[in-house]
Amino acid sequence: MENRKAIKTAIGKIILMGEHAVVYGEPSIAIPFPEVRIKTTIYQSRGPVILDCCYYKGLLLKGPKIVSGLIEVIRKVTESFNERLENFNIHIDSTIPPERGMGSSAAVAISTIRALYEYFNRPLTEDQLLKWANVSEKIVHGNPSGIDAAVVGGEKTLYYKKGMPFVPFKFNLDAYLVVGDTGRKGQTRAAVEGVRQFIESKPNEGMELIKELGNLTRLARKSIEDKDAEKLGQAMFKAHIILDKLGVSDGKLNFLVSKALDCGALGAKLTGGGRGGCMIALVEDIKGANYISNCLLKYGAQNTWISKLGDGLVE
Ligand code: PMV
Repeated sequence: MENRKAIKTAIGKIILMGEHAVVYGEPSIAIPFPEVRIKTTIYQSRGPVILDCCYYKGLLLKGPKIVSGLIEVIRKVTESFNERLENFNIHIDSTIPPERGMGSSAAVAISTIRALYEYFNRPLTEDQLLKWANVSEKIVHGNPSGIDAAVVGGEKTLYYKKGMPFVPFKFNLDAYLVVGDTGRKGQTRAAVEGVRQFIESKPNEGMELIKELGNLTRLARKSIEDKDAEKLGQAMFKAHIILDKLGVSDGKLNFLVSKALDCGALGAKLTGGGRGGCMIALVEDIKGANYISNCLLKYGAQNTWISKLGDGLVE
């Protein structure tokens, strides 16, 4: 028997600016984050499909709710090939901590879609990849803006507005980003719903805050284009304060953000859905980045990552 196998990967992402506001049509900036990755291996077997990932090992179609987005996309992609859900198994390895705002759900879907297309020897366009990834994202997040899938799939820094074409742009600012994990799972779905309720109960104040976030994202873009790291840092911290007002931060995120600033970061904020998850700090050079990373670990971050901005996969 021929032993077919396909291995594909996907990287994580970090939202630099604009989370939550992006749901309401404001711009956001997200960057690919190749420091963390998902790897999907599909290999030939006999019988019904077995899924093996950090949440679950067993029959694909009996998987728990937490993997329901992934199951649905596997089912639909396979169906679109007129293939049956049998005689192959799916194994997923991850270095992306789940539910921390680093794009793990989009990356799991994207690496698996890529692996399915490879395994069944079908050509995959970028549009198809995003369409399928959003099938899963809708189940996982409810009403996603689509930014996670767009950055994870495209692997480029994006200036993103819901419903508009993606605008990749040169991130040629010479600085470092330190990501600190609170160690607590973020609650994107609940946070998005919390913002919706905030706006429903206080429409003027709520929409004012969302607009301010949009303006800060525009300012951040200009600061990047002007190579002004200090201005970018200030915009980041202002965005954090607004996100906190909207109710999507929490005590530990606020604590790590303030410690990063005390230790000399140019700016810091939560990233992604919030209410747990990760924060980011902008730092001028690698020496400073290592210092902030150690400072965050000292004050209770579970893990940290350092990424050079403007490096690697951005256009
Ligand atoms: O928590 P994450 O990384 O999936 O980011 C969510 C970003 C939000 O703007 C809060 C929601 C969205 O769909 O854009």
